[in-house]
Amino acid sequence: MSPRTRYAGPIQKAQVHPHGLVQRGFAEDAWLAEVLDRYPAELFDINLYDFADDGQVSLRTGARGELSGAELLEAIKAGRLWVNLRSVERGCPDLWAAAMSEFRVIEARYPGLKTVTNAGQLILSSPKSGAPYHFDAAGVVLFHLRGRKRVFVYPGDEAHLPERDMEQVVARQTTEEIPYSPDFEADAQVIDLEPGQALTWPLYAPHRVRNTEAFCVSLSMDFQTWDSRLRNGALFTNAVLRSRGVSPRSTDRMRRPELAARWAASVALKKAGVMPSRLAGFRRDFTPMVGAPDGAGTLQAEA
Ligand SMILES: [Fe+2]
Repeated sequence: MSPRTRYAGPIQKAQVHPHGLVQRGFAEDAWLAEVLDRYPAELFDINLYDFADDGQVSLRTGARGELSGAELLEAIKAGRLWVNLRSVERGCPDLWAAAMSEFRVIEARYPGLKTVTNAGQLILSSPKSGAPYHFDAAGVVLFHLRGRKRVFVYPGDEAHLPERDMEQVVARQTTEEIPYSPDFEADAQVIDLEPGQALTWPLYAPHRVRNTEAFCVSLSMDFQTWDSRLRNGALFTNAVLRSRGVSPRSTDRMRRPELAARWAASVALKKAGVMPSRLAGFRRDFTPMVGAPDGAGTLQAEA
């Protein structure tokens, strides 16, 4: 069997753990509507996914619109929307405190796993939505709270996750979606997630998600370790080198001192602004609308 990832770390394969966030009320309509009402607009992402029969996915990005929290919740339940409430650690301190204590229990099950930062997004998604094939430049624990999700986790080797694409994502030159082939399915670990279950997988492992029947709520928590932080820095530095015509050494072949040196270089390069993100200024195509097909209305021209 091929290794599940090139950056194995203490988490060797996708694994399910129990959590207690559902019993604490974080999956209930009233609480969710209230969160949607008060969540800071600048931390709010709303997407519409179009799924083709061949597994390809296209994405339209929306704006928050004027709907109340309860109306927005109805639009999500009825359509193909994917709402991300980013930075839960800032936007939802009560959920975050509960989730961090759950996270510490899971972390303790992996000897050697030591996180230095955690961040989270609360994901409210329509019955027919999902997340296309991508990777996160971090470790992830996906706390599932409501509905059912099927998660496909793939090996993070060069065939499934080319290092050149990782550099582009880490340097924010492109979104997290990476090239996908249906041939990858033979290598997938497939997990059906129920409310009350949390799923984690090896650092960087590519994955995709399909909601299998109902409106879904999940808290996706990502975390960095010193290993992932150094590796991300080295990937950023390599992206800059590659943009200048240099063919950098693969980070797979670097030992810790070399990774650390490239990480230090990346801090300086970012400070100098040599490779600005291309993700700013994403076009917004719609606002959510109750009763519209897919839950997406046409975006009014912005003044
Ligand atoms: Fe992800």
